Amino acid sequence: MSDIESLLKETRSFKPDPAFSKQANWNKKTVAEFRKAGAQNSPRFWAKQAKDNLTWFTPWKKVLDWKPPFAKWFVGGKLNVSYNCLDRHVEGPGAHRRNKAAIIWEGEPGDTRVITYAELHREVCKFANVLKSQGVKKGERVVLYMPMIPELAIAMLACTRIGAPHSIVFGGFSADALRDRIDDAGAKMVITADGGFRKGAGFPLKKAVDDALSMTDIVEKVIVVERTKQDVTMKAGRDVWWHDLMEDASPKCAPAKLDSEHPLFILYTSGSTGKPKGILHTTGGYLTHVTTTFKAIFDIKDEDVYWCTADIGWITGHSYVVYGPLANGATTMMYEGVPVHPGPDRWWSLIAKWGVNIFYTAPTAIRTFIRLGDEHPNAHDLSSLRLLGTVGEPINPEAWMWYHKVIGKKRCPIVDTWWQTETGGIMITSLPGAVATKPGSATLAFPGIDAEIYDDDGEVAKPPNGGLLVVRKPWPGMLRGIWGDPKRYKEQYWSQYKDTYFAGDGAHRDKQGYFWIMGRIDDVMNISGHRIGTMEVESALVSHHDVAEAAVVGRPDDITGTAIVAFVSPVGGTDASDKFKDTLRAHVSKEIGAIARPAEIRFTDALPKTRSGKIMRRLLRDVAAGKESSGDTSTLEDFSVLAKLRESDED
Ligand code: PRX
Repeated sequence: MSDIESLLKETRSFKPDPAFSKQANWNKKTVAEFRKAGAQNSPRFWAKQAKDNLTWFTPWKKVLDWKPPFAKWFVGGKLNVSYNCLDRHVEGPGAHRRNKAAIIWEGEPGDTRVITYAELHREVCKFANVLKSQGVKKGERVVLYMPMIPELAIAMLACTRIGAPHSIVFGGFSADALRDRIDDAGAKMVITADGGFRKGAGFPLKKAVDDALSMTDIVEKVIVVERTKQDVTMKAGRDVWWHDLMEDASPKCAPAKLDSEHPLFILYTSGSTGKPKGILHTTGGYLTHVTTTFKAIFDIKDEDVYWCTADIGWITGHSYVVYGPLANGATTMMYEGVPVHPGPDRWWSLIAKWGVNIFYTAPTAIRTFIRLGDEHPNAHDLSSLRLLGTVGEPINPEAWMWYHKVIGKKRCPIVDTWWQTETGGIMITSLPGAVATKPGSATLAFPGIDAEIYDDDGEVAKPPNGGLLVVRKPWPGMLRGIWGDPKRYKEQYWSQYKDTYFAGDGAHRDKQGYFWIMGRIDDVMNISGHRIGTMEVESALVSHHDVAEAAVVGRPDDITGTAIVAFVSPVGGTDASDKFKDTLRAHVSKEIGAIARPAEIRFTDALPKTRSGKIMRRLLRDVAAGKESSGDTSTLEDFSVLAKLRESDED
């Protein structure tokens, strides 16, 4: 509550610059019109966007088929994502983009590739033929476990060309996590690389694939891109090099005419149980949502260089590094490595070098750069920038102001975009030519999106009261389900309120109706803008034979937003030493990946529980944050546990 109180005292507001508004893709007038149209009849509004922004092989018969909680958009329509992202920029009215850069890529070591639309089209067609020749058929899932290299985008687009849904697993996840996802998705092919570059060294990927595949036998083929040239073992009959297969592949491949509801991809994300959820997105609605929002929110023009710093392994990379930009014929930049390698100014040097105009990143990165010092951005010419964006977590007003002043030089509008893996595309956001911004607020819902805040009774919360963020009407980019688990889909998102999507975030609206997102209210943590379930880390910890019980909570952190704190009861007789802490951290890395390593581990004989045996996380959160417990402790089983936990404070 104290967070929201300080946020609500935020009175600074920045009106759109008239010069920007004048040239904006969506100016005030358009936005007002679209808001009205979206509120009156959102399917009709989205149908107009689908028609104006995409190319369909066959028009739809019905815009929306809504049998809560299952939606079908553009029913009967046929299209192809790779066709929309490529073919229409190399032939017909869009052919002037043939030789335009589709992807500007820079590797961490400084090697570069600029790939035109014509080249990307050719590579994607070739790889689509490779997929076919390796036995992948329409509807069959392909797992991608790759570094940030152009081949990742090529593989995604090739999958869409033949209608094989992809499931990308972020390269930071461990072999165990990869195996879980391969099994859950039922993938028979994995595409990977020998490794990728990070912090000046090659990290292994193929090795993790080998380990993962030693635990499952459903995968028949592995295609490997050569990136770092590190030693890898190639298993005869299963593993093949990308470059060998591409050598003779034909550059001609007709795009499959896919049903609008054909599965496009599955992306796993954390929920409040130990098992990640495979979020399913389909073709026509998703592409309509990301293409429209990208054009409006990032105000893309043909001559812009756009850079979203997200890894493609997360939803932001899917929607706003690859599909949204390419469907708009934009130039999208990709960078392989860490932001501060070889020096703290790498990102700013990239902006200056490539003349980046639109820059989209996460608050955690902004806070890191604030700490590193203004001299690094100040040493580079950032005058090409004209628009800035943030995503992934609430941005604190001071970080917003720094972004505005030091990076944007007070010239660039900032779009703070709220959305989720489940929503597919941006839902609440500023529109740079039309909406006044307030530091820390994601401002207003995108036209055609009916976001609200409900109290516990399902009534609209009256400002300044907060509540739970919901979406009351279906939208085109919405998840179509959890892969293989319709029951969990219903329970997780649609059981809180009738026929209303429950996002899992707490939020407030101010008198102007602006949204102030407060973060997750469930057992999901947001670490550097990435979702990690407390239960996932707990299951990883208790899978260690010397751990009897574990409870995991988040505590506020200046850089990462939230840091993971684990309370662990070791099995009797286990030495609760620093060495054991290191062992447990390494164990979590092995089970999930380095992103889930606890920042702090505290040993305790017992965890605070209710009389019915539920761990009282609320109390643990207070202990982790070093706060006095303000809430109700009347159901606490043993008060002495709490006192002991406070004493267990590290150092
Ligand atoms: O808590 C919200 C936070 O990130 C969650 C979604 O995480 P994920 O599915 O990994 O997608 C992240 C990128 C879209 C949300 O439930 N979140 C995302 N954007 C914002 C945000 N919180 C505040 N402000 C945002 N702009």
